[in-house]
Amino acid sequence: MMINITGTGRALPENTVTNFDMAKLVETSDEWIRERTGIVERRISTGDTVASLSAKACELALEMAGKKAEDVDLIIVATCSPEMLLPCAACQVQGIIGAKNAVAFDLNAACSGFLFGLSTVYAYLQTGLYRNALVVGAEVLSKIIDWTDRSTCVLFGDGAGAAFVEACEETEEKAGIISISQGSDGARGMVLSCQERKLSNPYITEAIGEENNFVHMDGQEVYKFAVKQVPVCIQDALNKAGLTVEDIDHFVLHQANVRILEGVAKRLKVDVSKFPMNLNRVGNMSSATIPVLLDELNREGKLKKGEKIVLSGFGAGLTYGACVMIWN
Ligand code: UT7
Repeated sequence: MMINITGTGRALPENTVTNFDMAKLVETSDEWIRERTGIVERRISTGDTVASLSAKACELALEMAGKKAEDVDLIIVATCSPEMLLPCAACQVQGIIGAKNAVAFDLNAACSGFLFGLSTVYAYLQTGLYRNALVVGAEVLSKIIDWTDRSTCVLFGDGAGAAFVEACEETEEKAGIISISQGSDGARGMVLSCQERKLSNPYITEAIGEENNFVHMDGQEVYKFAVKQVPVCIQDALNKAGLTVEDIDHFVLHQANVRILEGVAKRLKVDVSKFPMNLNRVGNMSSATIPVLLDELNREGKLKKGEKIVLSGFGAGLTYGACVMIWN
């Protein structure tokens, strides 16, 4: 069985916020943000939701794959910033697009979310339980960010990307997802956190939990984790695929920081030109970064049939993952 991505789509809020706009909100500068992160501007929602952006991205992915919403078997939305705890974003998307035959649920692995969603879909499709799936990475992070904290608010953006994934009969040419490697390190998880809500019930006198439920991050610890762990994870996925870094045409990584991408490229001894980037235009959109970049490359015709691609995500949890695939 071959598991292929046959359609991609993305949706971004219209509102563009530049580094100069950020400098009007907090004590920062275009120079600092550009030099430390590579980000120049990001999209910030003025009404779009995880569900609405996901639905748009899914419709575009379905259109590219030549499928109707009723054809979809499974929808997984990877998000850490849903509007609602219940119903989950995936069920909202199902309702919006009319995918009435699908099973839908959310998955939270933060910035690794799309990768973890893809590996979940891969496992389902391999067993034959479902024939196809929409896997989405979507975030409206602007609502869980402290807009007075310059160390985090300049980094993030809102958006969604989707991929339509299908199980196809094997052909002589190898294609689709070849290997996956994933890991988690919960013991170090508090370096990037966001409290949901307090514990409050009739059996305790005082509510337990944090007052301020915004994203908190020890940036340097996350940075060190990413630069060290991601190359190891990519190498593991390559070993499983029987390939080497030289065989890979594109490294489509989570877009957190240009310096992280350069650090990973250096450790892998790969020219950084093989690492496409869009974070200058959209910032860090957590689970949405990989599918949005993949859709940009796909629609611009930059992914050629037979090319070997590595996808890799890393972030809160801590979580990390990599996937090797052959584009077709
Ligand atoms: O998606 C996965 C999760 N996130 C990440 O992958 C992020 C990983 N980490 C990073 O990308 C980097 O650590 C950051 C971009 C977050 C920070 O860069 P850094 O080079 O590690 O800076 P720093 O935290 O060491 O801060 C250096 C200085 C500090 O000032 P002092 O103490 O040296 O006087 C900060 O207060 O920069 C200051 N600073 C800022 N200055 C201007 C922090 N944020 C800003 C800001 N503008 N926005």
